[in-house]
This record gives sequence, structure tokens and C-alpha cells, in this order.
Amino acid sequence: MSSARSAAARVRELRTQINHHNYRYHVLDDPEISDAEYDRLLNELKALEAQYPDLITPDSPTQRVGATPVGELDEVVHTTPMLSLDNAFAEEDLLAFDRRVRERLDDIEQVEYSAEPKLDGLAVSFRYEGGRLVLAATRGDGMRGENVTHNVRTIKSVPIELRGKPPAVLEVRGEVFMPIAGFKAMNERALAKGEKTFVNPRNAAAGSLRQLDPRLAAMRPFDVFFYSVGETQGWKLPPRHSEALEQLKEWGLKISPLLKIVKGVEGCLEYYHDIGKRRSSLPYEIDGVVYKVNRFAQQRELGFVARAPRWAIAHKFPAHEENTVVRGVEFQVGRTGALTPVARLEPVFVGGVTVSNATLHNMDEVQRKDVRIGDTVVIRRAGDVIPEVVKVIVERRPPTARIVELPAKCPVCGSDVEREEGEAVARCTGGLFCAAQRKESLRHFAGRRALDIDGLGSKIIDQLVESELVHTPADLYELKLEQLMNLERMGEKSAAKLIEALERSKQTTLPRFLYALGIRDVGEATAAALAEHFCVLDAIEQASEEQIQEVPDIGPVVAAHVFHFFQQPENRKVIEDLCRHGVKWPPIKRKQSRGEGPLSGKTFVLTGTLDGMSRDEAGDRITALGGKVSGSVSKKTSYVVAGADPGSKLKKAQELGVEVLDEEGLQKLLSAATS
Ligand code: IVH
Repeated sequence: MSSARSAAARVRELRTQINHHNYRYHVLDDPEISDAEYDRLLNELKALEAQYPDLITPDSPTQRVGATPVGELDEVVHTTPMLSLDNAFAEEDLLAFDRRVRERLDDIEQVEYSAEPKLDGLAVSFRYEGGRLVLAATRGDGMRGENVTHNVRTIKSVPIELRGKPPAVLEVRGEVFMPIAGFKAMNERALAKGEKTFVNPRNAAAGSLRQLDPRLAAMRPFDVFFYSVGETQGWKLPPRHSEALEQLKEWGLKISPLLKIVKGVEGCLEYYHDIGKRRSSLPYEIDGVVYKVNRFAQQRELGFVARAPRWAIAHKFPAHEENTVVRGVEFQVGRTGALTPVARLEPVFVGGVTVSNATLHNMDEVQRKDVRIGDTVVIRRAGDVIPEVVKVIVERRPPTARIVELPAKCPVCGSDVEREEGEAVARCTGGLFCAAQRKESLRHFAGRRALDIDGLGSKIIDQLVESELVHTPADLYELKLEQLMNLERMGEKSAAKLIEALERSKQTTLPRFLYALGIRDVGEATAAALAEHFCVLDAIEQASEEQIQEVPDIGPVVAAHVFHFFQQPENRKVIEDLCRHGVKWPPIKRKQSRGEGPLSGKTFVLTGTLDGMSRDEAGDRITALGGKVSGSVSKKTSYVVAGADPGSKLKKAQELGVEVLDEEGLQKLLSAATS
């Protein structure tokens, strides 16, 4: 039948195309088509296979998810053992490793190493026969692992069939892991459904890969990097490890884009520091870097000790997670009175610093994690984020452990603490009577994005509030040089500088001023929208709740907060005093307002680090020209501006076919819009 024949031809064509696009996307990280187009190809193939089931083959891209769960995980004996690595924690360990390597290699002067990040996932061995994936097994004890082929087949970046002319037998090893974004999304979904969440991407990967039902694994956001070769038949290995990996890439196996050949121990250290700097912006977790002697001949000469090769070492980064004991829980009062429970910890070295406090976010979180005073907990500090309590190690809970209770009175000012129905956050009702709220309001007021008062740091604000020199932001402008000089850590010079900075800060803009007031839920974007809509402060002060709701993007809750704020006589008094002291802003020019500039109607998303300006500055310039800055990429995004080390937003832009600008491109666009 000719239609069946043409279907067979089309199926072949579709499979070739889909495999090609898989390779572009997963291995080269350079897709040629959008997700939607890819889905169309896959759906067409699915439809044809449904119509002509005879055409289905096990290696079809539609056949990733087997229909039935396995009964148990079978044992797999590794044909060549899966080795582990020795660790280097300090620089000395690495120097010693390199010295041993050089000595054993007849005292050569400099060794060529292949360096790559050490991913925090699960080691898996993949066996391809005739180019087809036939077996995937966990490392286990290095000699015997478990058969997880049913789950590994569901990982989109693991090819079911290799490209080109792969050897008869190819066993490759790699790390299966969960990218951070996928892990978070998965946990959020689980939380929403009231299901169990995972503590970190590593545990999530380990747990999910060993499931019996591949349909569950298929829903998990796994990814993989291949990093070494096991048994091979019909392949004469190239002289170097890095060359072998490049060949794997040709066959469609994804390798780390951060793989680098380095020279000697100096090269290793440079690589270590470079990757360390980029660690927190990578989309997956790494716990160190691995150096491998690059030449296979030298690897063979060096051989193994016990279960680890003498030719490789893992150079670890400071751990992100550590265990420690909760000594107490205190409540910090924020700018809007929100009480944040903070765990006081037995100091512990984690993520490269000593940590003695960790946030518990709010009481719901304390209850959900069931943190008690005296508990041993897992602390996590990743990148620059605030240390967090991940979980309690319940087995180590002492009988004396005490439950954390929300105080009835504010620990700072003694006012009542209230928790509105359905709200996770409890608040001190003291308002600006509360010294903690006053300090936080002042910090906010002086902040870089608000009135930008240079030199008015946290410690100075504490002293100003505690000595009762300053109650409201307006009092700042009454400060005298002598008063400032009397503060701790303040000399005449810095006091004079602060007075100057205060003077300078008086010249501001209406959006900044509104933002600086610290109205609940009024961030920069809302402040800008208010300013743009009403143009003058008076109009905002006079506006009814309904009128405030007419501002684009302002809903009833925020409108109520804004209205309430301006109803309070104390707040009006502060504003009046500020203006009396000369705080002022240029009138809003309609022309420049959002929606009416040369960039009106254009939405920008900024990602990565820009060289010549901060992201904030770039955002300011875009909005000044009428453009809009958004935090997430969608089909409506006009441009994604990608600086160095861009995040997942760049990938999203490419997927959606959104135009991507580099810094130079943005500069050009801005100058064209201003000229
Ligand atoms: S090489 C003999 N390279 O680290 C070579 N391992 O601590 C053995 N790992 O079991 C492994 N990223 O699971 C190598 N780029 C990388 C790695 C890596 C993560 C894991 C792997 C191994 C463990 C050893």
C-alpha cells in the first residue's frame, strides 16, 4: 500500500529530523527551531505511529517512556569498575597531588590536565551497542550497580541512538543531575499538592532515578553530562581524554561546556577560582572541579590505588550544607513590622563563611519544618543568599528540645503582635513607634534605589535611632555636623561627607521619593506607576481608593495600602517636613513617561552581568525612554539583553525566538532612541 510506504518514509524522515534537533538542543545548546516547532514534529511522528503501529521501533524518539513499571531494580555487574575520586580540599592537597603525578611520570615539569566541573548528582554508566542504548546502571559500590535503563531512557539529553558511526560497544559514564530551576519547580508542584518535597537536587536525583515506574521518572527534570569512557569495542581511543570527550560529543553525548585543558598546577588553580566565581550563576549545582591527567598513556602509567585513579582528583569547593545545633530562635522586626524568626546557631563553617544565624522565614515555615530549640539542623548557604535551615535531623532531637512560639508582644517595642487570618506573616502593630521598624524604614529611605544617601550605613542608623536623634526620615535633614561627629566610628571627614550626601539626596525624582516612603507593597515598579499616573504628589495624597486602583497594575490590596498610608496624619507630617527641608523632584514630563517614549511598547528582560552599567542603570534608561522592564521572558518580550554569564532567561529567549541583544546592541539601541 503506497500510503503505508509513504508513511514509513515520513516516519524515517521525522526521526532523523527530531534526532538532529535533539542534538542541536541538548548537546550543542544551540537549537535551530522553537519548542513549538519541535513539538509539531514529535506530534506528527506520534500520530503516524499511532496509525501504523508496525512502524514503531524501540529507538524511536517517541519510545522514551516504557508503559510498565519494573518489579525491582536488577543488579548489574560493571564490565570495568566505576571508580571514585580522591578529594583535595586545600591548595596543599592539590600541590601534593600534582607533585606525586610528576614524580611518577619521571619528574616531568608540567602536566597537561583536563579540567571540568564536578557535578553534584549521581554517577551512571551507559552502554551503547551498535549505537543503541542497551543498559544504564548506577554506580552502586563501583563493581555492582542497579539497572535503571527504564528511567534513564526518559532523560531527553541521553540519546537512545547515537549519531554518526559509533563503535560496536561504547560504555560511557556521566553524571545524572537535576538543574536547580527544574528542581525548584518540581518541589513547588509537590508542595502545592501536599506531597513530599526533596531537600536538594542531589537527593531528588538519587531518589527519582531509582524509582520502579518510568512514568514517574519521565516527569522529573533530569539532565546529564558525560565525563568518561568505560569498555569499548571497535574504537581506537585518541591519545587524550579531552579528545575522547570531543568524539563523544560528535556521537551525540553531551559533555560539559566548561571542559578546559589546563597546564600544570597553576592552570588547575586558575580554573578552580574561575569556576568558583561562576558557581552561583550556573544553572546546576557543582561541589568542586575535577582534574584528570589528559594523556591516556600517562593515565595508564599512573594506574590506581584502591578504588581511585592516581591520575585524577576532585578539588572541592566549601560545602553548601552543614549540620549544626539551634541554640535559640529570635524574632527580627522588619520595616513593615513583619516578624521573621531567625535561628541562632552554634557557629558552623559553610559555603566558605562562618554562619551563626539562619532565617526561618515565618511561623508557617517553622511549623512545616518543625524546627525546635535544641534541634540539630541542616544549614545551607548557596552563593550570596541568606543561610537557611533546610531540615531538622529528627533522630538527633534531644528530649529537652523546645517548641518555637510566636511572641504575643513585639520583642523590640512591646506592642501587640498580630497575625491576620490566612497570612503567613505576623506583624508588630507598633508602626514607627517601634525602633526596629524605624531603623528599617530609615535604611530603606536611604537605600541606593530610594534617596541614595551615601555613607548612611546600617550601624550609623542604629546609633541615630538609639540615641533618639532621628525618629523619622525628615529628622535626617536636621542633623548637624557636631551631632554626627559624636557618633561612634565617625570622624569629622566622614561626618562632613554625610552632610553633603544628605544635601545631595534632596534632589530626587517622584518615583524614588514614593518608593523611599516605604509604603507596604509599593516597590519601585508600583512607585513609578503611581508617579506616572498622577504626575504630582498632591494628587496621590488626595486620591480615593478607587482612583488609585485605576493605575495600571495596581489591585485592590495595594490600593488599600497606598490609601491608608496617606490617610495617616503622621505620614503626611513626615512628607511635609521632608518637603520643607528642601526634598524636591522635577515635574514629571508626560513625554518621558512609560508608554510614550521612543521605546514605548517594547518590553526588555535583562540577564547576566553588564560591563559598562549595572542592570539597574540599564533598566532606568530603558524606562526613561518609555520601555518596560520585566523579570521574565515570554512571547511578548521584545528583547532579552544578555550580559556575561546569562541565566536560563537566555535559553528561554532562544526557545521563544525572542531577539537577544548583547551590551553593545543595547547601547546602540539606547543611543538611537535618544538621538
Ligand atoms: S570522573 C575515574 N568527572 O564524582 C573517574 N566524576 O567523587 C571517575 N563526578 O563517582 C569520575 N562530576 O559521580 C568525574 N566531571 C566529573 C564528575 C565526576 C561528578 C562524580 C562521579 C564520581 C564522583 C567521585
